[in-house]
Amino acid sequence: MTQAAETQAVDEIKIGGLGASRKRVEDSRFIRGKGNYTDDIVLPGMLHMEILRSPLAHARIKSIDASKAWDIPGVHLVLTGEMMATRNLAWMPTLSYDTQAVLATDKVRFQGQEVACVIADDPYIAKDACEAIVVDYDPLPPIVSPKAAVAAGAPVIRDDKENQPDNVIYNWEVGDADGTERAFAQADVISKLQLHYPRSHPSPIECCGSIADFNRATSKLTVYMTTQAPHIIRAAVAMVAELPEHMIRIISPDIGGGFGNKVPVYPGYVCSILASILLERPVKWIEDKTGNLISTGFARDIYLDGEMALRRDGKILGVRMHCDADHGAFFSDAQPSKFKIGLLHSAFAAYDIPAAHLTARGTYSNKAPGGVAYRCSFRVTEAMFFQERMMQAAADDLGMDQAAFRRMNFVRDDDFPHRTAFGFLTDSGQYAKCLDVGLRAIGYEDFRRGQADARARGRLLGLGISTMTEPLGAGNSREYDILGIKMFDSAELKVHMTGKAILRTGARGQGQGHETTWAQIVAHELGIPADDVVVEEGDTDTAPFGMGTYASRSTPVAGAAVAMVSRKIRAKARKLAAHLLEVSEEDVEWELGRFYVRSAPSRGVTIQECAVAAYANMPDGMEPGLENTAYYDPPNLTWPFAVYIVTVEVDPATGVWDVLKTVAVDDCGVRINPMIVEGQIMGGLTEAYAMSSMQFITFDAEGNCVGSNYMDYLLPTAWETPGFELHSEVVTPCPHHPIGAKGIGECAAVGGPAAFVNAVMDALSGTGIRNIDMPLLPDRVWEALTYRRDVYGAPPVRSDD
Ligand code: CDP
Repeated sequence: MTQAAETQAVDEIKIGGLGASRKRVEDSRFIRGKGNYTDDIVLPGMLHMEILRSPLAHARIKSIDASKAWDIPGVHLVLTGEMMATRNLAWMPTLSYDTQAVLATDKVRFQGQEVACVIADDPYIAKDACEAIVVDYDPLPPIVSPKAAVAAGAPVIRDDKENQPDNVIYNWEVGDADGTERAFAQADVISKLQLHYPRSHPSPIECCGSIADFNRATSKLTVYMTTQAPHIIRAAVAMVAELPEHMIRIISPDIGGGFGNKVPVYPGYVCSILASILLERPVKWIEDKTGNLISTGFARDIYLDGEMALRRDGKILGVRMHCDADHGAFFSDAQPSKFKIGLLHSAFAAYDIPAAHLTARGTYSNKAPGGVAYRCSFRVTEAMFFQERMMQAAADDLGMDQAAFRRMNFVRDDDFPHRTAFGFLTDSGQYAKCLDVGLRAIGYEDFRRGQADARARGRLLGLGISTMTEPLGAGNSREYDILGIKMFDSAELKVHMTGKAILRTGARGQGQGHETTWAQIVAHELGIPADDVVVEEGDTDTAPFGMGTYASRSTPVAGAAVAMVSRKIRAKARKLAAHLLEVSEEDVEWELGRFYVRSAPSRGVTIQECAVAAYANMPDGMEPGLENTAYYDPPNLTWPFAVYIVTVEVDPATGVWDVLKTVAVDDCGVRINPMIVEGQIMGGLTEAYAMSSMQFITFDAEGNCVGSNYMDYLLPTAWETPGFELHSEVVTPCPHHPIGAKGIGECAAVGGPAAFVNAVMDALSGTGIRNIDMPLLPDRVWEALTYRRDVYGAPPVRSDD
């Protein structure tokens, strides 16, 4: 680095620009309990809504008698499916071109499904009134797995749909079937793996909720709600409720975690809106924890089956994968429309593999609708989990060292851009370097020696490696759309006369620190101190149109839009500077926060002086003001890369396993705020540990959801969570992102689970056990060890368990 560049970098850190570990500005309200969440909002005359849910997984509704509920003092309205149907609102479209019942009319199709709503003076009256509603159900046999869904004689769950003779939603494929066939014909070794990625739930601490406020006098509908994608909700409400879009205002205030759970449209939102329109009063619906866990967007629940064609020396020749996805009662995945099973075909993107083929079948079941991108870019978590479990199995089958096998097959640094076997174009990376950093940090060679010694003394130590590359930042708009709406994003920047600025984006953070990091991008581009930039998101009346925040798309798309709008502002400020300095624009040079005359560097004006001039001293003919908007349609996805390595010790007597050390090497390109990036990685690793060790939702044979409360659905607290060692020395800037950044929010949650599972499986190597499905609860590990057998799938638990 030159002296000048070094000085500039130091100056930039001082104003909170790129690379500054600036403290999160939003935390000053959160840590003082001053956050403004949906449930904090109280409007004059507000009523409260509660939902009656189905106790059964599959049953025909013979009748609903709500008369007793209507009679309870304080009840204003009871909504049933029949009433919704008179307004064409009993069903609504899903984000995957299916339909979903808002309130059940004909049948209930999962336990917890919405059957009726009561709107009352307070939530307690509403809850009591729900209990007074009598529903006469005729039970039907429930289906709780894809296998049962396609079994001969299985009842058709979606008999509401014409042309739906069975429970199959789609059959989809991608890749090169013939080329893969040829690769397998040439293989020396074929390695196989079968596993289940269990159903889990994003489980944000704040549940879903909304306050609908329809004002008859202005015809304006304002909805405060817990959504990660306010503009998409506005469009959906306009379509579903047939209201004019410009008269709808969606405000997403502070959100207490989302992780994908708050992308879909839920029946509770629709019912509170209709109730407010009918009653002409604000109607608040706040979901309880069981309601959230039992009925809102689940994740995963897919069965993966695959094989790998290998040359004896370790070269991978081809991969074949099949996926059976359990979508629950309605196909409501929030994902780009073109891809039925999300971006599952991002599997093996970091490896140079000549041919691959993926088939996927989606089926209905009597479970809540699932498939949200839970901290992942549309099924990438499942893709990376299968990839790295398969890599471990293949290396074992070949008798090769785990690290050497991966290194040999990595896409090399000079092979970018690289077209993957499934057709993605990856942009950049230093995969082998990341692996080497990770191996050094974990002390690979020493661990392997110690592992052999320990084994000789009856102790089971294991080391698991996982790598991941994640396609982050959908669009580009050519390939990615949701319900036909192209995926891009936006930023609007207004620089006031005094040089202070307000920035709004179409993204909507839920704890990721956008208010902090977006200001840092402005500081980097314009030299305006980050503290002088206030960031606002989440209000459709003020923010420019955007697709929201999920799939770690904010930095790759909205973050890029922030850089681009700042550059538009700088271009105008340059004209103002030339005017103030009385030179031509071509003679003006830029350094952080200041324009100067090329031939006389001491003559200059600051960006703040330009801001004054934009309102008080602009040249003749120039439009006043210093504000602009940028819409950014990325040319490609960004492709961060990471290596996670975990060591464990397994107690053979109990199946309990303890994490000894976890090392993470993340390359997310340029880090805007290193401290926030580290926080994202730690959070992701915590979720990865949770998924691998304790967190899943299962169902008994009757379709009862087991895991609908925090006694059954285990989230690790600080006490259970192991420590993590993070490494940031590998930085490969994204070649097409304006500031070289790639996404990071999900990487560790995506790549982490395989590292933990691989570590436990490595500890069991030599026992003949090939796979234990997540979560690796002690009893599963114990069962595998004791009976020397794999533990596959999450069979329904017995109802008497
Ligand atoms: O879309 P989402 O905000 O969930 O994910 P992200 O774009 O990966 O960003 C998560 C947080 O990390 C944001 O505050 C980003 O600005 C920050 N980040 C960063 O500082 N540097 C990066 N290279 C990527 C993200």
